[in-house]
Amino acid sequence: MVGLIEGFLGKQADCKKSRVPAVFDRWQSITGFILACFILCHMVFTSTILLGKDAFNAVVEFAEASFLIKGGLPIVTNLIAAVIFVVFIAHAFLAMRKFPANFRQLIMFKGHKDRMKHWDTTLWWFQFLTGFALFFTASAHLVDIVFNPHKITAEHSAANFHTLEFFYFALLVFMVVHAGVGMYRLYVKWISIEGANKQEMFAKRNRVKTIIFAIFGVLALIALIADFVWVSL
Ligand code: HEM
Repeated sequence: MVGLIEGFLGKQADCKKSRVPAVFDRWQSITGFILACFILCHMVFTSTILLGKDAFNAVVEFAEASFLIKGGLPIVTNLIAAVIFVVFIAHAFLAMRKFPANFRQLIMFKGHKDRMKHWDTTLWWFQFLTGFALFFTASAHLVDIVFNPHKITAEHSAANFHTLEFFYFALLVFMVVHAGVGMYRLYVKWISIEGANKQEMFAKRNRVKTIIFAIFGVLALIALIADFVWVSL
């Protein structure tokens, strides 16, 4: 009944604003933060191929809990991937609320972006586009990993790269742009953009932006070099 009233009037029966949008926002940020941290580790993980096949296989075995069970259990990576997939689906569901819902909203945002010429607003546009691309590309990769009946090995992954090299390159670009911008937006949203004066505020924000983009940029560059190694194996 409460939901019905809110649906008709656009506000709760006691005229209070619903807390649900704020709760959704918080969970969107939490799930996004988990995924962005995971992506940082993932780039290091795939880049270990630069140290050789044995290094990559050793990291996979560690992820398969080889420190608990001799030789490791491959299903552990399937389970980790399944958990990441659930977090990913929750994040995508919550983020969808922010997408332009019709043509009018789309041109309103584009007009706003073009008039403002504000880098942070433009970054949101990139985040929207890459987020949309990740619906399909990241889901395809995760379905492959969750249901992969084989143990992950350097040989098997190299074979995947040979068949899907452009897919992995594209996924890397979408993922880095989306997670890097997302991490910066988390800072602006939840930490602080305050300063004693305007200059201090901008300097602080630019410093954080540089640090976050440098971390993602350097790891992405290493991952990109590693992608070429994967393809050449
Ligand atoms: C626990 C979950 C995951 C596991 C175990 C995993 C594992 C792997 C493996 C083994 C590869 C090498 C190629 C292959 O065999 O398919 C790979 C490549 C890749 N994965 Fe994942 N993946 C996971 C989740 C994700 C997610 C959520 C994303 C991004 C949204 C992602 C993005 C990529 C990219 C971009 C590559 C290409 C290599 C690179 O450029 O770093 N992965 N992944």
